[in-house]
Amino acid sequence: MPHVQPLLDAIPAEMLSAACRAARQIRSASDAVIATHIDADGISAAAIAEMTLRRLEIDHRTLFFKKLDDRSLSALRSDDPDLIWFTDLGSGLASKLQNMPAVITDHHRPDIGAPRERANGQQQLSDFTRLAHVNPHLHGISGASDLSGAGTTFIASIAVSDENADLSPLAILGSVGDLQDQKTRRLEGLNRAVLSLSVKLGLVEAAEDIRYFGRETRPVVKMLEYSSDPYLPHITGREQEAISFLLGLGIELKEGDSWRTWASLSEDERCTAIDALRAHLIACGRKPATVERLTGEAYTFAHEERGSPVRDVKEFATLLNACGRHGRAEVGLRICKGDRGDALSEGYSLLRDHRSALSRALETARAKGIKRMRHIQYFDSEDEIEETIVGTVAGMLLGSNDVDRTAPMIAFAESVEPSDIQMVKVSSRGTQELISKGMDLSVAMRDIAERVGGVGGGHNIAAGATIPSDRRLEFLELLDELIGSQLSR
Ligand code: C5P
Ligand code: C5P
Ligand code: ZN
Repeated sequence: MPHVQPLLDAIPAEMLSAACRAARQIRSASDAVIATHIDADGISAAAIAEMTLRRLEIDHRTLFFKKLDDRSLSALRSDDPDLIWFTDLGSGLASKLQNMPAVITDHHRPDIGAPRERANGQQQLSDFTRLAHVNPHLHGISGASDLSGAGTTFIASIAVSDENADLSPLAILGSVGDLQDQKTRRLEGLNRAVLSLSVKLGLVEAAEDIRYFGRETRPVVKMLEYSSDPYLPHITGREQEAISFLLGLGIELKEGDSWRTWASLSEDERCTAIDALRAHLIACGRKPATVERLTGEAYTFAHEERGSPVRDVKEFATLLNACGRHGRAEVGLRICKGDRGDALSEGYSLLRDHRSALSRALETARAKGIKRMRHIQYFDSEDEIEETIVGTVAGMLLGSNDVDRTAPMIAFAESVEPSDIQMVKVSSRGTQELISKGMDLSVAMRDIAERVGGVGGGHNIAAGATIPSDRRLEFLELLDELIGSQLSR
C-alpha cells in the first residue's frame, strides 16, 4: 500500500516492534474477543480491530465496557478465547493481564512503567508474558493529545497488513472523539501522521474552517446560538441575535423550506461570517488567543452524503458517543463498519436523545450547585445524571463562560454497575493551563481512588474513577490536597 512509509517512520522503533509483536499474536489466533470502551474512540477502535480480524478470517465478537475491573476481567477469562484484544482500555490494568493471551492497543496511562523507566537489570515483562502491549505512553508519546485508542489500534492493524491503511479514517474518528485536536485546534503527533496517510489516500479532507459543532447538520442559526468555544458575547444562547447577525451579513437563513447549514453556505458566505465573527469578538474585547479558537483544522469524510451526521468527523464522533453512552455501542460499531441504513437511523434518534439528556444534565448540575474547595471544584448529581455522561457534562461546564477555569471540575453520579457495595462514579476534567502547571488527573484519580478502595485512571486532562459511595468526602479532601501539591510543584 502506498503512502504508509512516512507513518511507519514516525513511529518510535520500540513501539513499532511492540505493534509487530501484537500483529504476530493476532495473526496466530484461531478466535478472538475484542474488549473495548463504550465511547466514540472505543467504538472506532473496535471497528478497526473487527475489520482487521475479518480480513484475516478469524472468528471474533466484541464486548463493550464502561471500565475494566476485576469483575469484567473474570468474565472475559471465563470466555476462554484464543485471544483477547483490548482496545481503548486495558493499559490501566496491564500488570494484571500479563498471563492472558492478550493484545492491548490503548492510550490510557498504563499501570506499569515504560521499558526504560524500569529498575536496572529488571527483566522486561514483555520478555516472558503472553501479552503484547502497544501504548504511546510506553514510548514517551502523549496518549492525551498525540494518539487515541483507535490510533493505537490502527498502528497494530497496519503491522498486521499495510492493506489495512484504508482503516485510517476510523483512527481519525477516534482521536477527534477524544478531543485530541482541542489543544492546538488540529491533530498533532502520531495522529497527524495517520491523518496525512488518510488525506493522501483521499479518504479524509482536512481544511481550516469554523470550529463550532454541527457544520453538516445544524441550521447555521443554531450553530451560532449553541456556540461555546469561543463563547460569542450577545449571540451565544440567543436565537434572535444569532438570526439578526446572519441577516445583517446578507446570509439567507433558509433555502426553500429547509434551514441552511454551515456546510451549505457558499465559500464567500462562510468567509464573510468568519470575518464578522472575528471582528465581533475583537470588538467585545476578546484576547487574540480567544479569537483564534474560532477556526481550526476541520475534518470531513467527503465521500459521505452531504448533510449526513457521518460527514463531519466531529459530528460522527458525537453520534458514536450518543450510541455508546446510552447502552447502544453496537449500533455505533455497525455505522463505523459502513451500515448507512437501519443502524444510521437508530443512531440519529439516539443522537436526539443524547442532546436532550446533555442539556437536562447541564441544568441538573447547575441546580445542584458547583462547590469550590481550595484546588478543585465539584458537583454531585446523585442519581440524576447517568454515570456515562457525567464526565461530558463536567467538561461542558468547565468550557462554559460563567464557570471558574482555575480548578478542575469533579463530578459524581451514582454508579449502576453491579457491585457488592454501593459505588459512585467520579469524573474529572481539566484545562490545558492546569496541565501546563503540573496537574495530572489520571495519576490523581487513580491514586486517590485506590486509597479509598476504588479504581480510577485515564488521561492528564480527563480521568475517571469508581469509589465506595460513602467515602466521597474523604475522596474529595484527599484529591484536593493531591491536586494542590501537583500544582505547587
Ligand atoms: O476513554 P477515552 O480515552 O476514550 O476518553 C477520553 C476522554 O477525555 C473523552 O471523554 C474526552 O472527551 C476527554 N477529553 C477532554 N478534553 C480533552 C481531551 C480529552 O475532556 N482536551
Ligand atoms: O468516564 P469519563 O468520561 O469521565 O472518563 C474519563 C477518562 O477516564 C476516559 O478516558 C476513561 O476511559 C478513563 N477512566 C479510567 N478508569 C475509570 C474511569 C474512567 O481510565 N475507572
Ligand atoms: Zn480513548
